[in-house]
Amino acid sequence: MLCALLIIFLSSSQVADVVARDHGSCIDPPWNNAVAQVIVNGLESARGLLVNGLPDLGIPPLDPLGPLPRIPFSIDTALMWMEGDVNDTMLAGLAEFVVCSLNVSIGLTEKFDMDMRLASMVLNGKYDLNGLMGQLFPLYGQGDYRMEVMDGGFIVGAGMSYNPISDHAKIKDLHVDVWFDQLNLELECILGCGDMADIVNGIVSDMAAPIFNSVMSVVDPILCDALETGINAILKNISISDIIKPPQLRALEIGNANSYLDLTMITVRHLIKKNDMDPATLPSLTLDLNNNAQLEVYNGELTGLSSLHRTGTATMDRVADWAFLYANIGVKEIKAHYTGSLEVGNTGPVVEIDASIAEIAVYLVARADVYEWKFDFDQFEITEFGHIDVTVDGLGLFDYMLGPITEAVANSLHDTIVNLLETTVKEAIQQALNETPWTM
Ligand SMILES: *[C@@H]1O[C@H](CO)[C@@H](O)[C@H](O)[C@H]1NC(C)=O
Ligand SMILES: *[C@@H]1O[C@H](CO)[C@@H](O)[C@H](O)[C@H]1NC(C)=O
Ligand SMILES: *[C@@H]1O[C@H](CO)[C@@H](O)[C@H](O)[C@H]1NC(C)=O
Repeated sequence: MLCALLIIFLSSSQVADVVARDHGSCIDPPWNNAVAQVIVNGLESARGLLVNGLPDLGIPPLDPLGPLPRIPFSIDTALMWMEGDVNDTMLAGLAEFVVCSLNVSIGLTEKFDMDMRLASMVLNGKYDLNGLMGQLFPLYGQGDYRMEVMDGGFIVGAGMSYNPISDHAKIKDLHVDVWFDQLNLELECILGCGDMADIVNGIVSDMAAPIFNSVMSVVDPILCDALETGINAILKNISISDIIKPPQLRALEIGNANSYLDLTMITVRHLIKKNDMDPATLPSLTLDLNNNAQLEVYNGELTGLSSLHRTGTATMDRVADWAFLYANIGVKEIKAHYTGSLEVGNTGPVVEIDASIAEIAVYLVARADVYEWKFDFDQFEITEFGHIDVTVDGLGLFDYMLGPITEAVANSLHDTIVNLLETTVKEAIQQALNETPWTM
């Protein structure tokens, strides 16, 4: 059988979804710090394992990778229309990767950037296609296909997060951009195993791009998942403070910020009182109850916010140029009072409403750079909101409205207090943190 052999040359810019960049030479050594060095060494030592995969981690064999399922592709341009699929594709060459550069940063910016290179990557499988060239000339073929990607690689990016309590880092949201210098495509029996194949020579580069992109869209998630899982397995094994030494990272001492936070909370309590937040005026509201009833609440007052205090260990950690504060704080015995006018039809009593909440807890993570010591919150989370007990005095005949009133008041009070905590109280904490010098 006479088979057509087509070899094409593509510059990367001809393939739309593929990154074109000036890929310089590799960096020696490729890592930017000790953590990156551990990852590079871990990836190197996993090279041999790629042949069989790492079943424990759910990573499939990666070299060769496949057979991949049927992957459709299509193209519709002025020059040609084509539809088809490739099947049973095997991808070989991934194990020959070279880690050309890996930058890991923890602290200032938490980032993971890796440049992986491959001398060659080969795709083999079956293809089947139909189409039209120049709206006239039929395109068809089926048989084996082979595509070789030369001098390419992956730019790998990911988010990074470091947890000072566990002293471990992990990556997340890993993504990969593929690039290459040269793409060679061979289609067996294009235009029917004859010597007609030369006719399509001129357009085969337009055919290669959609095929390559379609295959990579299937390979991408497999590769991303394997890389993220594998790199996290390496990271899980290392305690960051063991390998990044001061001044980049200081040993974490749980509870080392207890007295600092206690001092800060004194300022916060003072600010809360000074800014008329204890007692705080609650907004007047009209609450819709069921049964066409309404409750107007006014003369609202909230007390207790100035009981804000530390409720657990507070820990300050330093990573590179950043300090992180991890703290649990809470308020106790919050009380609210409203006067309310109940309106059912055109009538209804004036009532006195009292509410109390045993405890509200907040977990916060604040970060400051160690030159300015100005804090921003990374996290400010209400972790516990105690039950709101509501009592209503003066309902008389309208006692049957107690349930709906209790519910409506509790809901609106919950929202109001959450809002107060997340705005004014949070700002007071930020101000107090910035006014309290950290001296350890
Ligand atoms: C793709 O390959 C599989 C396995 O060889 C086969 O079962 C399937 O029928 C093929 N699909 C097409 C569309 O040829
Ligand atoms: C890592 O940092 C070096 C030095 O700043 C830079 O030249 C290189 O391009 C970076 N590598 C990656 C993969 O971003
Ligand atoms: C974890 O560390 C141990 C001891 O250093 C080493 O033997 C093992 O191979 C490491 N595992 C991974 C996944 O890097």
